[in-house]
Amino acid sequence: YQLLTFPNKGVFSFPSVSPAPHSVYNSRLCSAATLPVSACSGSAVKFIMEPKLYRPPPEVRGMTSLDKEAFTQTITVPALRVPTGVLNKVVKSLKKSAIQRPGIPRVVQDKEESSDFRLVLLDPHKVSSTTSFSEAEAEALRSFSVSEELQHYELQLTYHNLKTEEVLEAVLPQGQDVTSSFSRVGHIAHMNLRDHQLPYKNLIGQVIMDKNPGVTCVVNKTNMIDSTYRNFKMEVLAGEENMVAKVKENGVNYEFDFSRVYWNPRLSTEHQRVVQLIKPGETVFDVFAGVGPFAVPAARSGAKVLANDLNPESYRWLQHNCKLNKVEKKVRSFNLDGRAFIQGPVKQELPALLKGTAGVHVVMNLPALALEFLDAFRGLLHQEPPCDENLPIVHCYCFSKDDNPETDVVKRASDSIGFPLESQCSVHFVRNVAPNKDMMCVRFKVPKEVLFSKDHDQTEPSEEPSSYRFITIRNARKHLS
Ligand SMILES: C[S@@+](CC[C@H](N)C(=O)[O-])C[C@H]1O[C@@H](n2cnc3c(N)ncnc32)[C@H](O)[C@@H]1O
Repeated sequence: YQLLTFPNKGVFSFPSVSPAPHSVYNSRLCSAATLPVSACSGSAVKFIMEPKLYRPPPEVRGMTSLDKEAFTQTITVPALRVPTGVLNKVVKSLKKSAIQRPGIPRVVQDKEESSDFRLVLLDPHKVSSTTSFSEAEAEALRSFSVSEELQHYELQLTYHNLKTEEVLEAVLPQGQDVTSSFSRVGHIAHMNLRDHQLPYKNLIGQVIMDKNPGVTCVVNKTNMIDSTYRNFKMEVLAGEENMVAKVKENGVNYEFDFSRVYWNPRLSTEHQRVVQLIKPGETVFDVFAGVGPFAVPAARSGAKVLANDLNPESYRWLQHNCKLNKVEKKVRSFNLDGRAFIQGPVKQELPALLKGTAGVHVVMNLPALALEFLDAFRGLLHQEPPCDENLPIVHCYCFSKDDNPETDVVKRASDSIGFPLESQCSVHFVRNVAPNKDMMCVRFKVPKEVLFSKDHDQTEPSEEPSSYRFITIRNARKHLS
């Protein structure tokens, strides 16, 4: 910004920002004001600011390997000279105008190093002249006999004082989107960089790590979600290569290798919603269990759980998480294709469970494909005498790109299970995963006409699920395209 005075004092302008030599990089503040106080006193002084005062030196543009020292510069900020006796009270009453930057103190030594005074640094975006103070602030200054005369303070600003967006905006080509959002999974920050950001990927990773305490590894997703195990291929951009994350979700601890299993922090509310529907003593069949975010909390709240996942790594971490949360005796785990799980362990356990009174739930969270597995319930218990009681409640997830997702998912679920579910199901919106793509959960009791049907021959589950998967993936594409 520039410093202007009224005509009788002439017009001064000076560059407010001067890059410091790299060798003087440090986070210490310099305390000498460059202009005589008389030149910038009282209401004659106006700070005209650039819209972005905290803009790093232009030389950093295009940098691909992070040089933190190149961000060091000196800027001039307004300040008030405050007697030490009233310092705390003044700082309190100037909350709105005082400078608020990470790593920058609001109070610094007076330039004359007098122990009777300190300088309170003000935010140059908010204070450009003495008239910038609010009525209440001006009144407080008067009551504490603080001179409203604005001082100038030369402040050394370093990389550490800048926000992520400020660093990236200065480095990436002008006018390009610098969005730096990421998902946090334990110590891992997980990004999804766009093509124009890729030349700067390591720098972006380093900045994210520096600016987010606790993040010690930054990864970028390098492909679309893997079609079978729902995990991403990822590249480490910065930090340690340790992919074993420790997270806490809804009070439950999980550990897993984030590069080899599925984990989505955005599903925590959904996990909690479903687990809250399950009462102690009930049974849960988790067909696509992942590392256990339904299975483990359900077992902790007193349910008996049979949890399955096709990915051997998920299966291993599922067992690990059961032990970690001391529910290994309540969870039986399986490493099967979902269809084989329904036609195997689910089919075996159901007849006895239907005779009891405790509820039975089947959780199917594989949104791209789960609807395609519903036909596994057709005639599942065809050898058993039909009954109405205690039929299993299915919670089946899917994506929809339809204008009316509720109608769409009920129709697709009905088609797959071979029975109209319209009047006997509920649909829950889980989250919007992309523009025009919603994740939904359809809940229904498996109709007895389906479960005990003698018209549907149960095909033996094959040990190798790939051929089945080929068909289901093709079918799923119809819905997803
Ligand atoms: C979207 S993830 C959901 C995991 C977990 N339930 C959750 O909510 O985080 C789907 C899981 O299904 C597993 N999976 C994919 N295809 C499968 C199949 N045919 N049979 C069983 N599990 C499968 C994947 O390995 C993955 O762990």
